[in-house]
Amino acid sequence: MKNLIYLLLFCFTISSISIAGECEIDIEGNGMMQFSADNITIDSTCKEFKINLKNTGTLAVELAGHNIVISKSTDADYLTGIVNPSHGIKNGYLPKDNKVMYKTKFLGPNETTTLTLDTNKFSKGEDYVFWCSFLGHWGVMNGTITIK
Ligand code: CO
Repeated sequence: MKNLIYLLLFCFTISSISIAGECEIDIEGNGMMQFSADNITIDSTCKEFKINLKNTGTLAVELAGHNIVISKSTDADYLTGIVNPSHGIKNGYLPKDNKVMYKTKFLGPNETTTLTLDTNKFSKGEDYVFWCSFLGHWGVMNGTITIK
């Protein structure tokens, strides 16, 4: 009986680990203005989904910061139009706006941050994108988000 309990505990631990692995993604922004992923697939069975971002570039944050902004695809043009450095590095150069679903501050070299998404905020019929809101970056630093 004791062995059976250990076996069940073991199986439960293994399955928890594999489920947790699908509820997060590691993404790097590099010195070539590239994200290491061009798509993020969010498993809607995850309650929360974490995006772990790291800036692997070497330029100071004021020269080439990297962050992640998440919005509906249809709101991206509007949002890139209101990016302005006057809103500050901590705010990703963006003002408070309902169309910004999530954003992080800009990261400098070797800095990391984690964005925790509530998967209930995403619906399967909608197109979402992630992008870096540093001036001149979003044209190349962008990707799609798939809800499965
Ligand atoms: Co960037």
